[in-house]
Amino acid sequence: MIFTGMKISSAIFAGSSARVEGKPRRRLPEFAFIGRSNVGKSSLINMLTGNGKLAMTSATPGKTKVVNHFLINDNWYLVDLPGYGYAKLPQKERDKIAGVIQDYILNSEELRVLFVLVDSRHDIGSIDKGFIAELGEHGIPFALIFTKGDKLGPVALQTQVDRSCDILLESWEELPPVFVTSSKDGRGREEVLRYIENLIQ
Ligand code: GTP
Ligand code: MG
Repeated sequence: MIFTGMKISSAIFAGSSARVEGKPRRRLPEFAFIGRSNVGKSSLINMLTGNGKLAMTSATPGKTKVVNHFLINDNWYLVDLPGYGYAKLPQKERDKIAGVIQDYILNSEELRVLFVLVDSRHDIGSIDKGFIAELGEHGIPFALIFTKGDKLGPVALQTQVDRSCDILLESWEELPPVFVTSSKDGRGREEVLRYIENLIQ
């Protein structure tokens, strides 16, 4: 039998919070998405759930400013986090967002895996590497997702993904799970959902 992936039968917005005290009270497994502003976090959540309007997306970076929980199949949460590294925001605003991200990541007992998103068109940057290093220091389980896979041809895409993985291997002994996705053509959806499904059972 061909495995067709996890069925998403319901995806419901469950609340926004700036601090973990304010997140939804139900204790269920959480899977969160982080990465530079505009990398495609919110779009990926919409693609995974098959609901283009669930998480708010924007061509302007800095759209998501708080933590948004989405209850999936009444059984687990997808969590949309604000982006890091958006240089154009005023410093005060950036500090505020950094605080929201840090509080969620360090204090969420239900966080099973943090998906770190990287734009597949570019080398993984120093901001991403620094962020990933901090995850290592704090023992936060994470996986890597290369987004916008539709924007490159297959050969260029593979070359770029390999380059970014090689850059990471300069400071890590082994790679975390790696996925390539596109919110436009849906690639990677089954792989990511299958990975999540295995972790909630
Ligand atoms: P912030 O909330 O501002 O941190 O951004 P975000 O990471 O949530 O990005 P968002 O999902 O809002 O997407 C940013 C822009 O990239 C939008 O214009 C999306 O349409 C576009 N985009 C996101 N994913 C993809 C993708 O897989 N392929 C293509 N071609 N465009 C994408
Ligand atoms: Mg967003």
